[in-house]
Amino acid sequence: MATGLPKTKWRGRPQPPTGNRGVSEVCLGYAGKKAVSDILATPPASIRQLWPDYGHSQTPNRLYYGENLSVLAALRHDACVRGKVRLVYIDPPYCTKSIFQSRDQNDAYVDLLEGAHYLEFLRERLVLLRELLADDGSLYLHLDDNMAFHAKVLMDEVFGQANFRNWITRKKCNTKNYTHKTYGNVADYILFYTKSDDYVWHRPVTPWNDTSAKKEYQYVEPGTGRQYKKVPVHAPGVRHGETGQLWRGQPPPPGKHWQYPPRTLDELDARGEIYWSPTGNPRRKIYLDQSTGIPVQDIWLDFRDAHNQNIAVSGYPTEKNSDMLAQIIQASSNEGDLVLDCFAGSGTTLSVASQLGRHWIGVDNSPAAITTILKRFAHGLQPMGDFVNAREAVPGDTKEEGNQLALFTEAGRQGPQVAIAPATYRPILDFTLLASEPNRGDLEEALELWRDRTGDMRVLRVGETHAAYGVKEPSVGRRPRHNAHGKNPPSPSIKKTRQTKNARCPKKPSKP
Ligand SMILES: C[S@@+](CC[C@H](N)C(=O)[O-])C[C@H]1O[C@@H](n2cnc3c(N)ncnc32)[C@H](O)[C@@H]1O
Repeated sequence: MATGLPKTKWRGRPQPPTGNRGVSEVCLGYAGKKAVSDILATPPASIRQLWPDYGHSQTPNRLYYGENLSVLAALRHDACVRGKVRLVYIDPPYCTKSIFQSRDQNDAYVDLLEGAHYLEFLRERLVLLRELLADDGSLYLHLDDNMAFHAKVLMDEVFGQANFRNWITRKKCNTKNYTHKTYGNVADYILFYTKSDDYVWHRPVTPWNDTSAKKEYQYVEPGTGRQYKKVPVHAPGVRHGETGQLWRGQPPPPGKHWQYPPRTLDELDARGEIYWSPTGNPRRKIYLDQSTGIPVQDIWLDFRDAHNQNIAVSGYPTEKNSDMLAQIIQASSNEGDLVLDCFAGSGTTLSVASQLGRHWIGVDNSPAAITTILKRFAHGLQPMGDFVNAREAVPGDTKEEGNQLALFTEAGRQGPQVAIAPATYRPILDFTLLASEPNRGDLEEALELWRDRTGDMRVLRVGETHAAYGVKEPSVGRRPRHNAHGKNPPSPSIKKTRQTKNARCPKKPSKP
């Protein structure tokens, strides 16, 4: 709706009258579009557990290495997951016709599907994801301008146009010095849909600071010292009930009605919450101390990707901003809820969900992605730096140069490990790593490294014993590497929501 137009919705019959049922729906037609029933009949993946080597982790958190279509089809038959996922965030390939490499020059994933093939790839997954969502769940789809517009129409088909909530524009990178004959492209898009109109929602706000508070709340109430702003006491549209009547002898302005019945306006006035102008016009006072902050709008400027901010990174290409994921997860889920990302990449969603006390399921079919996720879970992100091995830094370097790190130093492989994670970083070990056949072979090296890392962590943490993790000390005769495969140390937040009975099944979704 353009600004300046009254927000009065037409509540009458559809205009013009429709002849055939459903004729007003818009569908995207393309070659190879399957029937929904065919998509729902996708054969489920056959799944094998890779880690822990025996038993299960005590939480429902799962990381799948495999093609997400068949994994989603398998999850559809899993009573712990179907209809129980409170939030899906996906950041699939964007149809860029590119091969993406990690910063260590290894192939990470390919993005080569085009046109109808791309759209059907996306649609198949959206159809299955909708099945996994709880009735009060939400799905966020992150894309750029290649396919976002086509995807909006597909999402309307799959979720219903009425369940479209927002088209969020995100500033993804710094301003560019463009050489093309176009405006610089710094935006990508997040499409926010819900499964129904009764969905989990915690409105995110930006807290006030001195400057923004003074700008918005310009007045100070004599006596109380409370900062306030003045807003109209009337709203657009003529009403013939109480709110259309005279109040204190005044009618509402032409084309408007009072926001409250005269009785309520009297109560507000009695409490001193009405400001009367010298010419006798009433305005309502809104106080700063009653506001938690500025509601977040649908243009996000503060979540540029890590690579554009010189902060900590995983080194995986197209890694998304953790703070952005935190905002999405906090807005659309509760603690203890199940969050799913089936294009997990470097594991941003999974890692942030874990920090925020949510359970999670991640899927990716790239060995580089799973390797990155395991490394991130073990050590956290690494400081952004150039490709300079810390061992090469020489005395006399500037502080910054001296701090430049070999970004992808492998633990225990290339000399001393350099400040790979803040001392407070709590490794994420409470999950099960699974693979859909026939993928499981490609991860042997990453798994070996993971076992080494997690084993080391338990041995090397100063002042901590295995008991601190709820793990028995490895006994003589037990393979030392496997001392990490018992119960995993819960992060403080996860501990609060840990399941007691059927530990692998997330708890029944609760209303917000
Ligand atoms: C844009 S990246 C996701 C980045 C992620 N949001 C992050 O913050 O790191 C897309 C990911 O989807 C994965 N992917 C693409 N097609 C897939 C498929 N069919 N099944 C599973 N994963 C897939 C790729 O391997 C890649 O890691």
